[in-house]
Amino acid sequence: MSPESQRKKVVLTYGTFDLFHVGHLNLLERLKALGDYLIVGVSTDEFNAGKGKQTIIPFVDRLKIVQSVKCVDLAIAEESWTQKADDIRRYGVSVFGMGADWEGKFDDLRQYCEVVYLPRTEGISSTSLKQLTRVLDKGHIEDLKQALGIISAIVDKLE
Ligand code: CTP
Repeated sequence: MSPESQRKKVVLTYGTFDLFHVGHLNLLERLKALGDYLIVGVSTDEFNAGKGKQTIIPFVDRLKIVQSVKCVDLAIAEESWTQKADDIRRYGVSVFGMGADWEGKFDDLRQYCEVVYLPRTEGISSTSLKQLTRVLDKGHIEDLKQALGIISAIVDKLE
C-alpha cells in the first residue's frame, strides 16, 4: 500500500549520507517531525561519479544504513537530478526538505509541494570526517617513522 493511499503526510529528501553521522541523523529526525512518512533518496555511486564525488562507503551499504534509521520509512535510490518531480508525484509527497546548504536550489519544486531548508548541524560533515581520517593517517605514519628510528638506534647499539 502506498503512503498516499494510507493518507499519510509524506516527507521526501535526498543525499549521499557517506560515513553516516549525527548531522545526517538530526536532519532526518527533524524532517520526519514535519510529517508522518519519511522517504530518503540515497545517491548512487554512478550518480555521484557524474558529480565528481567519490564516497568511502558504497551505495548498497549507505542505502542499508539509511533504511535502518528508526525515523526513515523508505530509502530509495537517487539516480538523476530530474527524478525529484517524478518521486513527488509517485509517492504523494507533501513536503520536500534539504539542509540549508541547498537553500533556494530546489524552489522550482514549490509548484508540486511545500519546500523547506532546515539548519545544518554545526561542526560535522562527511568531508570533515574524511579530512580527519587523512590527518590521523599522516600522524600514524609519523609515529611509525619515530618508532623505526628508535628501534634502529637500539639495534645499532647492540652491534
Ligand atoms: N546535513 C546536515 N548537517 C550536517 C551535514 C549534513 O543537516 N552537519 C544534511 C545536508 O544538508 C543534506 C543531508 O544532510 O541535506 C545529506 O548531506 P550529505 O551531503 O550527504 O552530507 P554532508 O556531511 O554534508 O557531506 P559532504 O561533506 O560530502 O557534503
